[in-house]
Amino acid sequence: MAKRRFLVTGALPYSNNKLHVGHITGAYLPADIYVRYLRSRGDDVRFICGSDDNGVAIEISARKENSTPAALADKYNTLQRAAFEGLGIHFDIYGGTHHPDFVEMHEKLSQDFFTSIHNNGHFVKKTTEQLYDPEARQFLPDRFVKGTCYHKLEDGSDCANPDATGDQCERCGNTIDPLQLINPLSTITSTTPERRETTHWYLKLDKFQGMLADWFSISSLDWRSIVTNFSMGAIKRGLPERAMTRDLTWGVPVPLDDPDAEGKVLYVWFDAPIGYVSFTARYCENNGGVWQDYKDWWQDPDCKIVHFIGEDNIVFHALIWPAMLLGTQYTAEEMEKLGSNYRPRTEKGYYQLPHNVVANAFLNIKFPGKDEEKISKSRGTAVWIDEYLKTFDPDPLRYYLTANAPESQRTVWSFEDFVERNNNELIATLGNFVNRWQKIVKEHFDRKVPSNERAEDMERELLETVRALPEAVGEDIEATRFKSALNRVMDGFRACNRYIDTREPWKTRKSDLELCAATVHCCIQAVRTLGVLIEPFLPFASEKIRVSMKVPVEQWTWMHATEELPVGHELGPVPEVLFKKLDMKDFEV
Ligand code: MF3
Ligand code: ZN
Repeated sequence: MAKRRFLVTGALPYSNNKLHVGHITGAYLPADIYVRYLRSRGDDVRFICGSDDNGVAIEISARKENSTPAALADKYNTLQRAAFEGLGIHFDIYGGTHHPDFVEMHEKLSQDFFTSIHNNGHFVKKTTEQLYDPEARQFLPDRFVKGTCYHKLEDGSDCANPDATGDQCERCGNTIDPLQLINPLSTITSTTPERRETTHWYLKLDKFQGMLADWFSISSLDWRSIVTNFSMGAIKRGLPERAMTRDLTWGVPVPLDDPDAEGKVLYVWFDAPIGYVSFTARYCENNGGVWQDYKDWWQDPDCKIVHFIGEDNIVFHALIWPAMLLGTQYTAEEMEKLGSNYRPRTEKGYYQLPHNVVANAFLNIKFPGKDEEKISKSRGTAVWIDEYLKTFDPDPLRYYLTANAPESQRTVWSFEDFVERNNNELIATLGNFVNRWQKIVKEHFDRKVPSNERAEDMERELLETVRALPEAVGEDIEATRFKSALNRVMDGFRACNRYIDTREPWKTRKSDLELCAATVHCCIQAVRTLGVLIEPFLPFASEKIRVSMKVPVEQWTWMHATEELPVGHELGPVPEVLFKKLDMKDFEV
């Protein structure tokens, strides 16, 4: 099979927040599964992430914590790295858009993007009234203002979310024009803002609509419907012009030689996705190359770019970001001429559009004895990764967050369900099968793969079932059906348990040692395959199984998963406990 190339990104978490289970199931875990699978399959992959350090959210949190945006960003960047590592989510690079090691490259590439889109004629400079807080003596873009959402829902009713912020409404997912908010309030002083004139650069998104729609019709056939429905709906309603600059000091300075640009920065949603690019550039620089080698990933039509995000990020990754990329590819006149004809630009030197944008819905949470609710930092309704990892292992969390992932709609974290799945599925189905024959292979076969001379149809059928899985599971993963992929692997373990229940090697070891040998042989081969297939989902357990089977790392891959361990192959030590039993008491606070 040919080696393919992938650049995979996880949405940059704001560096004002620790990570909770909602973030992990929403973007990073599915991305990690995807990356691990591709690597196992032999593809060339880079996995990029880092913190989103600019923007109003960071400024607000810094005020609250009596800190500075830079100190705050640094603190959370470090906490995030540790949480990801603890979960086995390893990025090739973890940057930060204002991190001292990245900020220079990030500002340069962000300004290059802005300049290129500006020179191509996609911005319009407009002086308009904006909300201003006279007490704080500043304009109130984005989250500096709060109010009631003015959008209509799909069914025509009013969204009316009273907690919409000046950038986005979390209820309906739409972007917000602060001036249209009903009853706006400054989040700095809680006063009602006034209007003052200011100048900004607006991206003419309406001019990209046709091409974006065409791009969708060509590219998004196997995308998730939450992404395509949202995006096509937004295009149909019409994409408004959006200001890509802000009256703030924290951020990337606007790179224009224009007095009106003075003291202004780029909109955080303009520079943040460029973080994927600037971190890639730093990665290339750090890894024996030159930073410009980022172009091999970003400007090569043979490299597939895949973004993993939460549902509130769809508008930015599936519409605004692709528009920005197109804006670097074509001048406004060229776009006008092409109309709604999207053609991938395959000549060298052009940014490529994403191959897929993979979004998840939100995860709600249910505490024992309480109603299901939203995960919220301020109300303390979250399971934080750093706290979880103090007591528990990563694999059960990875398992539950995949089995229960909000792939097409919201799902709920429930502690009972988490405990139950750990005990009944990970332990009783998976762990149990790996253990059931260990004693026999040790006592009767000297921990060597025994003969399968007595294998019958039952053995052949089981191995046929198991060995068909790498392809089916791989297909699911490539199509971002991670739940289904995991379920197939677990079905494999269920089939194995049924098989061993029928064969009862703990009985035949006394009555028919040759049949017992063939049974254990078959179990070992099944685990050899399944142990590889669980690696993207449960890397820690997979590694323990690998060691216990004494298979070299290079052969513990998708491509080798169905190879037979020869008779006489000596196994490693009996595996350590794969999963610990959990009890609801473990979660009492
Ligand atoms: N910080 C944003 C969020 O948490 C995600 C930014 S993704 C990026 O919602 F691409 F823009 F960086
Ligand atoms: Zn709304």
